[in-house]
Amino acid sequence: MVLTRKAPDWRWIGLKALAHALALLPLALLVRGVLDNTLGADPVAAITHQTGDWALRLVLLGLAMTPLRRLLGQPWPIRFRRLVGLYAFFYATLHLATYVVLDLGQYWQQILEDIVKRPYITVGFAAWLMLVPLALTSTRGWMRRLGRRWGQLHRLVYAVGALGVLHFLWLVKSDLREPLVYAAVLALLLGLRLWWKLRRPAGQAPMRGA
Ligand code: HEM
Repeated sequence: MVLTRKAPDWRWIGLKALAHALALLPLALLVRGVLDNTLGADPVAAITHQTGDWALRLVLLGLAMTPLRRLLGQPWPIRFRRLVGLYAFFYATLHLATYVVLDLGQYWQQILEDIVKRPYITVGFAAWLMLVPLALTSTRGWMRRLGRRWGQLHRLVYAVGALGVLHFLWLVKSDLREPLVYAAVLALLLGLRLWWKLRRPAGQAPMRGA
């Protein structure tokens, strides 16, 4: 029997390395800011804000991959979806850890009270909880094991996007512009999916990976 070994796809490996580097850049900038002491008067608030922003941006970027694939007629966006989603979870977890460890500190148990009493924390925590099963089941093995149910489970990411935007809208005191931009991007991404779903002739299966 002749075993043929698949040649490594260097272009793909290079692109993936670049995507990892880009996804880690915000963290590197934060670490540099801490070391240089350039995060402003309240570094903990700056870290909380930056990690929250990147968690939400990456959730939305992950949601953009399927529409991008369709609009470009290229399969490559789907190949980055898992990486983007895992980094969204990574930044959301850093965000939560910053709040619990650096912000609450010795009063960390207060997180439970916050989850119950402060609606924007309740909503943020719900979004983070939903990201957990998505990250855990993001492998090919889980995709195979869950079959059709994998797609159903991963629709939770729509709710994560909506709760992330709501969390931001709720915590902002006066200037709503930034969270409204995120809300508009989310509405566009979900609107596109709905539009395509409604236009699909009855009985026709969605595109694979959608
Ligand atoms: C795990 C539970 C979470 C907790 C305890 C939490 C807590 C916080 C806190 C304390 C702030 C700053 C509030 C202020 O400045 O008054 C914040 C801001 C923010 N969070 Fe969260 N959050 C959580 C989950 C999430 C998730 C899952 C996302 C995204 C999907 C997210 C996105 C954001 C954004 C975008 C901001 C605003 C950043 C800015 O002002 O530029 N958070 N969060």
